[in-house]
Amino acid sequence: MSNRAALRYDTDADARAREIETQMTDDERFSLLVSVMGASEMLPVRDERIPADVPMSAGYVPGVARLGVPALLMSDAGLGVTNPGYRPGDTATALPAGLALAATFDPALARAAGEVVGTEARSRGFNVLLAGGINLARDPRNGRNFEYLSEDPLLSATMAAASINGIQQQQVISTIKHYSLNCNETNRHWLDAVIDPDAHRESDLLAFQIAIERSQPGAVMTAYNKVNGEYAGGNDALINTVLKGAWGYRGWVMSDWGATRSWEYALKGLDQESGAQIDALLWQGEAFSGPLRAAYADGRLSRERLSDMVRRILRSMFAVGIDRWGAAPALDMSAHHRIALQIARQGIVLLKNDGVLPLGTESEAHVAVIGGYAQLGVVAGCGSSTVVPPGGYADVLPIGEPGPLSGFRSLYLLPSPPLTELRQHLPHARIEFDPGLSPAEAVLAARRADIAIVFVIRVEGEGFDNADLSLPWGQDSVIAAVAAANPNTVVVLETGNPVAMPWRDSANAIVQAWYPGQAGGQAIAEVLTGTVNPSGRLPITFPVDLRQTPRPGLPGLGAPWGTPTTICYREGADVGYRWFARQGHVPMFAFGHGLCYTSFEHRDLVVSAGDTVTASCTVMNTGDRAGADVPQLYLTAAPSEKRLRLLGFERVELEPGESRRVTIEAEPRLLARYDGGAGGWRLEPGTYSIALATSATAPQLVAEVQLGGRFLGR
Ligand code: BGC
Repeated sequence: MSNRAALRYDTDADARAREIETQMTDDERFSLLVSVMGASEMLPVRDERIPADVPMSAGYVPGVARLGVPALLMSDAGLGVTNPGYRPGDTATALPAGLALAATFDPALARAAGEVVGTEARSRGFNVLLAGGINLARDPRNGRNFEYLSEDPLLSATMAAASINGIQQQQVISTIKHYSLNCNETNRHWLDAVIDPDAHRESDLLAFQIAIERSQPGAVMTAYNKVNGEYAGGNDALINTVLKGAWGYRGWVMSDWGATRSWEYALKGLDQESGAQIDALLWQGEAFSGPLRAAYADGRLSRERLSDMVRRILRSMFAVGIDRWGAAPALDMSAHHRIALQIARQGIVLLKNDGVLPLGTESEAHVAVIGGYAQLGVVAGCGSSTVVPPGGYADVLPIGEPGPLSGFRSLYLLPSPPLTELRQHLPHARIEFDPGLSPAEAVLAARRADIAIVFVIRVEGEGFDNADLSLPWGQDSVIAAVAAANPNTVVVLETGNPVAMPWRDSANAIVQAWYPGQAGGQAIAEVLTGTVNPSGRLPITFPVDLRQTPRPGLPGLGAPWGTPTTICYREGADVGYRWFARQGHVPMFAFGHGLCYTSFEHRDLVVSAGDTVTASCTVMNTGDRAGADVPQLYLTAAPSEKRLRLLGFERVELEPGESRRVTIEAEPRLLARYDGGAGGWRLEPGTYSIALATSATAPQLVAEVQLGGRFLGR
């Protein structure tokens, strides 16, 4: 859609929403305010509000046919169209984890990912994707970090906006979620996330703000937790004051599934109750179906607010265009597979390499592949984002317990076995497999081989935080024993978070593959052999251990489900690398870090200052193979304080000997501080220190610039 056309729909959307809403009966208005969940293995009863011809999915809201208002058919989301038992046999492209996508530092790929999910959603009739997970990675134990993007507001916002634009381009509404601070899963329904409100604006809320400005998602999904004492779904300060007030957001606000405890959330800004049957199960009744109508009948809910709720939903329908679908675009599942492959290739991060990699496709080495179910497939994270890939899972191992989300918790293996791929990519090598059951057995295989590749995995997902940073099932001991037996040991991590690496000094190479999606095995084999030159950069800091993080102990961990828990995000806006800089901690692997098989040189940094900071530098590939570099621009000091902040980045692909001039312009709010007293962003006048860097701890070129003071607004 051209910009002009988009603009027309946007203004038309407001007018049409008003016009249609005026013609509605109150019953029709209320019907738009509640979504019900489809029948699945988790909720086996089919809700009678869902018509027989509607495919089962996470949410259904009836339309108003006489007024041309389509029903809303909602599906998860960010990593592909999910199907947790709703539609037997329906499979979809399973993309790599959000962290892998962010590690590409490539917004064009994020957009392509959005287009994949948007097209596949549309082909099934789903017109709302519950995508756009953008909670910052504040804690390396958070079970859902793999679904999100990064610890940095700019990187997260850039990638989320690109992917939301990719979805909405297909005339499918995308959410952005979970607003805000659902940064831990432990007792998330009883969690109070406490934070200084100005620091919140400079961190998680800044990520939401920038992403919303750049992509206009049709809906915002609130979080399960409380924020500063008020449940996110009924948080007047967050929804009415910040989102709809300061930012002027015009779409609608929906709750998370089973997170609406009271009709009064409508007064605090919530427009739609989601997964209403779960509210009925958990909180003794649906909040919007009965009580909201009663509140309207006796005047506690005004007509004006009711109309506003409805108009917001209609507005997003019309602005995104779900009411004017033509024929569904053709589906090219092989093209989608290639996008999944490309994200995995670019998202894999080479953390360490003492020289064993790349193996080279001509290698005749004897290679021991050990552990991680590498003979079967690659791991996917679990929860509402898990996608059934074409052909189904390679295997599913239920893990279960504790707590009500135990049904979600399984080891899902996607059918892209690294072992098979390695055999294809190393046709002359002698490859044997050992399951990695015990250190003693693995060592026997490692001793026989020239090179040992140990695959290690972790089951992480929704509803659970990791108790610590260790690898389960004795895998740390397997690596330690193998690395002691074979100096050419490569460790490949399929995890949804950083892990501790007590064996890191003895491993020759370490590869972070995340949850790499349905083509993950191929991408891993290509990176190990050197068919693909790794270019991923860490979107999250890898600590040496939990003592380096803001919360060595996680409040509420191990408490029974239903125990009220408070997490004080005392790091405020100093999330991830900013916390490490503030504390003077040296991480194991820094934000932005990632190695490759070539080398790059940066030179001739020129920084100019006007309304913001603009930096340019020359990047040259000084090695002997093509590769991609990700120069990163950081603020390192502001007039009155040392302050580290990513200001921008650019991924550049270069042939050997090729060089290119790269220009990065800083988003001005990243140079400013949020001033709660004044209700806006304030840029201090004075000297700003800027660094062009290869990671948050590795500045290459530095400069200073003078900026005039300015109030930047809300
Ligand atoms: C998750 C949401 C998801 C919803 C619908 C909830 O459990 O927190 O992210 O969109 O379920 O499946």
